[in-house]
Amino acid sequence: MRPGRRRQSKAAAATPADPARVDRLPYYCAVELFRVTGGTRLVGEVTVGGAKNSVLKLMAAALLAEGRTVLTNAPRILDVTIMSEVLRRLGCTVGVNGETITIDTPAEPGTEADYDLVRRMRASICVLGPLLTRCGKVKVAHPGGDAIGSRGLDMHIAGLQRMGAEVTSEHGFVIAQADRLHGATIWLDFPSVGATENILTAAVLAKGTTVIDNAAREPEIVDICAMLTEMGARIYGAGTSTLEVEGVDALAPVIHRTVPDRIVTGTWAFAAAITRGDVTVRNAEPSHLEIALDKLRTAGAEVDLLGPGEGFRVRMDPRPRAVDVVTLPYPGYPTDLLPMAIALAAVADGPSMITENVFDARFMFTNEMVRLGADVRTDGHHAVVRGKEWLSGAPVRATDIRAGAGLVMAALRAAGVTEVAAVYPIDRGYPDFVAQLRGLGAEIERVTVPDDEMSFDF
Ligand code: EPZ
Repeated sequence: MRPGRRRQSKAAAATPADPARVDRLPYYCAVELFRVTGGTRLVGEVTVGGAKNSVLKLMAAALLAEGRTVLTNAPRILDVTIMSEVLRRLGCTVGVNGETITIDTPAEPGTEADYDLVRRMRASICVLGPLLTRCGKVKVAHPGGDAIGSRGLDMHIAGLQRMGAEVTSEHGFVIAQADRLHGATIWLDFPSVGATENILTAAVLAKGTTVIDNAAREPEIVDICAMLTEMGARIYGAGTSTLEVEGVDALAPVIHRTVPDRIVTGTWAFAAAITRGDVTVRNAEPSHLEIALDKLRTAGAEVDLLGPGEGFRVRMDPRPRAVDVVTLPYPGYPTDLLPMAIALAAVADGPSMITENVFDARFMFTNEMVRLGADVRTDGHHAVVRGKEWLSGAPVRATDIRAGAGLVMAALRAAGVTEVAAVYPIDRGYPDFVAQLRGLGAEIERVTVPDDEMSFDF
C-alpha cells in the first residue's frame, strides 16, 4: 500500500443508493468489497422491500400518463437511482424519499433514453413501449448482453412491428416510430418478461385489442398489470399465459404499492438453509416462491408460513440434503435463484444436478465458486455439484447481481475469510445487504480498497 493511503471503512463510502454514484459507477465498482468471515449460523428476522424487477417497469409505466405517479414500498437500491436518472433525462421530475418514489411526467416527455445509462442498466429498455405508444417515437440504446448470457430484443421488436411500428437498429440504438399503434395478436417464442412488458405497455394506448400469447406470468407482470389497470387500462388474463389488452385513449397517474421482491425473499430463505440457521422473512409473499420453498423442504428445512403477505420462517438443522433444481419461467424455479441453489448444493450432503433453462451463460460464476473450494462441474446448461461440509475462504468477484449474493451465501459457510470484490452488482439488487446480514449475526463488512490494491483486471 502506498504511504499515506489507508483502507476506508464503510462509513467513509457514500451509501449504495447515493445519486452522486450514478456518474462514478465505473470507478466505484473497482474498489468496494465485502469481507466475510464464515462459520456463523444466521438467526433472526429480516424484512423484504419491493421488487427491483417490478419497480423499474412501474417507473417506466409512469411515462404513459401526464402528472404525478407515486410508487410505495420501493426498494432502496442502485437500480432505482439509475432509473430515476433515466426518467429525469426524459424530462420527468423524480423524487425518492425512502421507499416512496414520486414521478412528475410532463405533457411531452423526451423520446431518447440516455445511451450511457441504458448501457449500464439493461432494464432501462422498458421505456421502449411506453414512449412509443405515448409519443409515437423512441430512441433507446441496445442494452446488449451481460454476464448471464445473450439478452435478445427480437421478441420485443417483432411484437411492436406487429402493432404497426417501424423499428430499425442504427448506431447501437433501437429506433421505433408509429403514428398510433394498433391491436394485434402476438405469439411469443418464449415467455419473455421484458418482451411481455414492452408489448403490454405499448398496447394499453393502441387502437383496438392486442392479445399476447405465451406471455410471461411472473408476479412482476401481475403487478404492472395491476398498476396499468388502476391508471385506466383494460387488461385481462394477468398472471396467465394469454394477456388481452383493449387499448384506451388516455391513462391517468396513480399511487401504487410495489409487490414484495421474491428473489430477495428467496435469497434469505436459502441463506438460512446454507448456514443451518433460523431466519424469519417478513413482508414477503410465500405464494410467489412455492417451488423454491418446496426445494428447501426437500433439502430438510422446516418452512413455516406466516400467512399471505406476512412471510415465513426457515429453520435448517442438521446438514442440508442434496436436491436437484431445474430453472424455468414462472411458476417454475426462478433462474435468479440459481446461484443460491448452487451455493446450497456446494455444502449439501450428496450430489445435486442443477439445470438452467432461461439464460445461456448463467453458470459463468461457478468458476468463482470453485475458488471457494466448491466441487462444481458444468456441461452446457447442466451443473453437477458434490457437496462438502465446509468450503474455504478466498478472494472472489461478483460477476452479476445474483451471482454476487450467491458467493456471499457460500462464503458464510466457508472456513476463514472471503473477499467478494466488485460488489456494485449486489448493491444494484439488494438493499442494505451488509446491515441485514449483520443483523442476522453474520461476520461481514463493506471495505473500500484503494484501486491499486485490486489484483483483478477490470
Ligand atoms: C427479467 O429479465 C429480469 N430482469 C431478470 O432478472 C430475470 O432473470 C428474467 O426476467 C427472467 O425471469 C428484470 O426484470 C430487469 P426475459 P429479461 O426477457 O426481461 C431471451 C436479475 O438478476 N429473449 O424473460 O431480460 C433472453 O435472452 C435479472 O434481477 C430473447 O431471446 O428476461 C433470455 O435468454 C437477471 N429475445 C430469455 O429470453 C427477446 O426478445 C428470458 O429473457 C427477449 C428475451
